[in-house]
Amino acid sequence: MSGTAEGTDQLLARRAAAQEREEQARAKQHERGRGTARERIDKLLDDGSFTEVDRYRREPVGPTPGPRPEGDAVVTGHGTIDGRPVAVYAQDFTVLGGSVSLTVGQKVAKVMDIAAKGGMPIIGMNDSGGARIQGGLVALTGYGEIFRRNVGLSGVVPQLSLMMGPCAGGAAYSPAMTDFVLMVRQSSYMFVTGPEVIRAVTGERVDPETLGGADTHATRSGVAHLATDSEAECIEDAQALLSYLPSNHLQLPPDVAPGEAPEGHRDIGRIVPDDPSRSYDMRDVITKVVDDGEFLEIQPEWATTMICGFARLGGMSVGIYGNQPKIRAGVIDIDASEKASRFIRTCDAFNVPIICFADVPGYLPGVDQEWGGIIRHGAKLIFAWTEATVPKLTVNTRKAYGGAYGVMGAKQLDADANFAWPQAELAVMGAEGAVSVLWRKELKEAEDPDAKRAELLALYRREFLQPYPAAERGYVDDVIDPAETRDKLIVALQRLRTKYIERVDRKFSNITL
Ligand code: HXC
Repeated sequence: MSGTAEGTDQLLARRAAAQEREEQARAKQHERGRGTARERIDKLLDDGSFTEVDRYRREPVGPTPGPRPEGDAVVTGHGTIDGRPVAVYAQDFTVLGGSVSLTVGQKVAKVMDIAAKGGMPIIGMNDSGGARIQGGLVALTGYGEIFRRNVGLSGVVPQLSLMMGPCAGGAAYSPAMTDFVLMVRQSSYMFVTGPEVIRAVTGERVDPETLGGADTHATRSGVAHLATDSEAECIEDAQALLSYLPSNHLQLPPDVAPGEAPEGHRDIGRIVPDDPSRSYDMRDVITKVVDDGEFLEIQPEWATTMICGFARLGGMSVGIYGNQPKIRAGVIDIDASEKASRFIRTCDAFNVPIICFADVPGYLPGVDQEWGGIIRHGAKLIFAWTEATVPKLTVNTRKAYGGAYGVMGAKQLDADANFAWPQAELAVMGAEGAVSVLWRKELKEAEDPDAKRAELLALYRREFLQPYPAAERGYVDDVIDPAETRDKLIVALQRLRTKYIERVDRKFSNITL
């Protein structure tokens, strides 16, 4: 080390003190089955790529009383993942419960600004008791610095939140505004008001895990996009997610070498049963189409009638959303609309082409759904898909009835390429319902109503439940052999790489939030 002897001694002493603090932190965190902020950063980033920023920053001496640990309760800086630059912060629960002071807010804000200027993703590793109680109102302004940038960076660079401990109050809100929230089971939880406050206000008794644990947010609330059993898996998921996304909204997602066509992809048509009342798993279709059969599903346990996730086709990153016939016939409910709408907008913001796999009987009927506002929630899906300016491709694998036809990638909502499999049924409604409405009188007067029904069902299926009426009008561009699906999609994606849409001159559309 060069420099004056005194300066060097001081630096070495500070480094030794930091090392000692890290060892204490390690002992505390490992006892709780968790890593330290620095260990987490090291796992996330390429080896040796971390550059720390503001390691000595601390609360200024001033009128606000409160502790002033060096570096405060967050480690901030930048590095690379797969060689691509990212900005990062990791809260340190061993320092005042990872609580957010003004200094913590300013440190995080600085790396968010680094992300903005450098056009790189920002990844937050959250483990915090929220606003620092001793910091008073000033600590709340620390959150203000972060929130403002969460909003400002939304749609500019990808923002990922890895939840690795308790996250209460502002510690839950900031992640909720980011693009992806990843939680660790039995280790992280998120809530706006905790069990104690809930008990005092409403009398309800609930433990933190049930109230806001990873399973709760991955299955009930939809707040978590992914849940894992360990911090290491959580970090791997974050790395995988980033691999599908560009570093900022001005770039295209990174291409990789085209993967293999999945084995048996030519037999994909066999997955869909001939009998329209029998279900199948749309994931089987998706994983038989995409490169190497690799599909990173988002929110796999929430709103399960809709599937969303990332994959690649011919090495090109794609976002896929589709109905799940295996669960309640793939009907669209409020949550399914929300899930797909948000996913489509995330893809659109970051230039990821979208593929829709449609097999949908309609919107979920029910008083709960109507009173819950399925009209306005369902409308989000129309907004999201129609407004998306990225390449938009649709494959109709079986049925698409009624209003749900419109929201699952319809040509009229500006899809770029619509393909239908030969068994696809694009119609106002299914055969049973249609026959009962159209030919009620004939059925009533028939000598043999069962035979008459069978005859009319066959007639309706022949005349209406086919892809050809839609193809004859140009609503589908081609009726394809399912075996051709992968090839057709790759050609369409290549054709659309230069797609450009002139935006309408307005402030923004008033999506039905
Ligand atoms: C200061 C805090 C703190 C906080 C925890 N600590 N939260 N210090 N401010 N907000 C300290 C504790 O005093 C303790 O210090 C250490 O961190 C570890 O905390 P424990 O309680 O021992 O840990 P645990 O049992 O795991 O419980 C974690 C917890 C709990 C659930 C997060 O600490 C908790 O409920 N904290 C308060 C949460 C909260 O209500 N925050 C305010 C949110 S309001 P010692 O010295 O004993 O080790 C908010 C508004 C933002 O964030 C809005 C912005 C506009």
